[in-house]
Amino acid sequence: MNHLSRLLYVSRSSAQVGEAELNEILDVSRKKNKLLQITGILCMGGGHFIQILEGPQDELIRLYCRILDDRRHYDSVLIGIAPIQQRIFKDWSMGYIENPPEIMDANRHQLLEVWRGRTESHQLFTLMRGFLDQLGR
Ligand SMILES: Cc1cc2nc3c(=O)[nH]c(=O)nc-3n(C[C@H](O)[C@H](O)[C@H](O)COP(=O)(O)O)c2cc1C
Repeated sequence: MNHLSRLLYVSRSSAQVGEAELNEILDVSRKKNKLLQITGILCMGGGHFIQILEGPQDELIRLYCRILDDRRHYDSVLIGIAPIQQRIFKDWSMGYIENPPEIMDANRHQLLEVWRGRTESHQLFTLMRGFLDQLGR
């Protein structure tokens, strides 16, 4: 079954990723994600990426495998993939959020705690809602 699902990962950006590389990632993502009915956000700052992707599970997994091979980042940790009833980022083929290093460090730490099973996963929802609020600004 190709369930509507959400996938979340964290990774570290390679040294070469500046504004031009980031814009290229966002341009390609927005074009390709639209075709695949994938929505989500990319959050960057302090040398970290946090990405949330929503869409049909098969396409999400295929896309994540492609993204894993991308040398513009490394040390990717898949925090989770789970079926969802509805999208949070339905209006965004790839929304972009830039956050200061200290916020990204804290977000990454919190997500890794979820991954390790030390934090309740409902806190994930609070984090995602926070990202949605940032997009609205
Ligand atoms: C952090 C990061 C996030 C990315 N997110 C997406 C994405 O959401 N959708 C997408 O199509 N490509 C994304 N890419 C780019 C893919 O890795 C890949 O370069 C792109 O899809 C083109 O793939 P292709 O050359 O096989 O067609 C991302 C890359 C990085 C480094």
